[in-house]
Amino acid sequence: MTDTKTLIADSQKYIANTYSRYPVVLVRGQGCKVWSSDGREYLDFVAGLAVCNLGHCHAKVVQAIQDQSRKLIHVSNFYHIEPQIELAKLLVEHSFADRVFFCNSGAEANEAAMKLAKKYAKDTGRAEKFEIITMEKSFHGRTMATITATGQDKFRKGFDPLLPGFKYVRFNDVDAVLRAITPNTCAIMVEPIQGEGGVHCPSDGYLRDLRELCREKEILLIFDEVQVGMGRAGKLFAHEHDGVYPDIMTLAKSLAGGVPIGAMLATEEVAKSFSPGTHASTFGGNPLATAAGLAAVSALLEDDLLENCRRVGDHFFSRLMDLKGKYPFIKEVRGRGLIIGMELGFEGSEIVTRCMEKGFLINCTMGNVLRFLPPLIVTPEEVDQLVGTLDGILGECGEGAGS
Ligand SMILES: Cc1ncc(COP(=O)(O)O)c(C=O)c1O
Repeated sequence: MTDTKTLIADSQKYIANTYSRYPVVLVRGQGCKVWSSDGREYLDFVAGLAVCNLGHCHAKVVQAIQDQSRKLIHVSNFYHIEPQIELAKLLVEHSFADRVFFCNSGAEANEAAMKLAKKYAKDTGRAEKFEIITMEKSFHGRTMATITATGQDKFRKGFDPLLPGFKYVRFNDVDAVLRAITPNTCAIMVEPIQGEGGVHCPSDGYLRDLRELCREKEILLIFDEVQVGMGRAGKLFAHEHDGVYPDIMTLAKSLAGGVPIGAMLATEEVAKSFSPGTHASTFGGNPLATAAGLAAVSALLEDDLLENCRRVGDHFFSRLMDLKGKYPFIKEVRGRGLIIGMELGFEGSEIVTRCMEKGFLINCTMGNVLRFLPPLIVTPEEVDQLVGTLDGILGECGEGAGS
């Protein structure tokens, strides 16, 4: 087997330089733990960035991949595909939606959503409607359309010209949306909880007001649930907390338990604007990915993971609030279920590295927001282990870092 040093050197030599990576090669995972090539064990509070909601290598997902890979790995969407049909049916039965388009990533799902919104406007006789309103600090992906949709300059820098027809307004500000709407607006796209932007939850009534505004102005409402869907926020979809439903929703990340997948779900009324030839993806909904998806969604629903997510999430949140009470440089703790952000008064990268040295994987977004996204099977004891370690690290480095 190639040694760790050589692997990292080859990674730096052969792989496109788009990520700054920690000097660790992860080779195995089970439940909430992962192991590196040099035999170190880590408790994983990153979970592949909200992908491994069931934990690593969930038995039902592994079994489904094994079974499906012996039967049929890929065929074209020229033909009907059994697990694709079953996964679509399951998603429809558990959501507002009537139809599902499958693709391979969150960005692709959002591309599909935006294409559908524009096509729907044209099909309903409003050809001039093409503008899309999104939120500041949003994140929707890295393709040309989705970096344009993303309300953060840093992701767009260097990629001009971007797509025309996008406007950005403050999250949690319905009046700002109202002011941004023109006769040309076709859709509003919003994450029901902003993830990459620093874990920002909607204020009470915000999503409901957006829904109402969209109904009044005949504009489509798109929820990007790529990061916070599939149980992450303690409900199957995060928007269920607010009791409102979109016209279109996008999913990806944990939908297939770690196998690449994306999905765009829509109501029948809107979905009918996609007809044969209007949109497609070679791999979208392929037998292997959707068999894994079917197993992952079934496991999520059957294993009572939503309840565990809410219960352990509440425990985690209150433990982090204890830390906030102790350290004045912790500005805020935000989140729902098991997506929790802790905003610091200084850069968080050093804390992430120190946690890693002590056997815990965590993430930092927006420079100073520690983000915790453990598998939904995480236990209160595992949370306590992390919080205890974090307490020690913050105690040591907090003073030097300033408040
Ligand atoms: C809310 C949201 N939308 C879209 C994406 C893009 O997903 P992907 O990286 O699968 O293209 C992400 C990724 O982090 C996300 O958090």
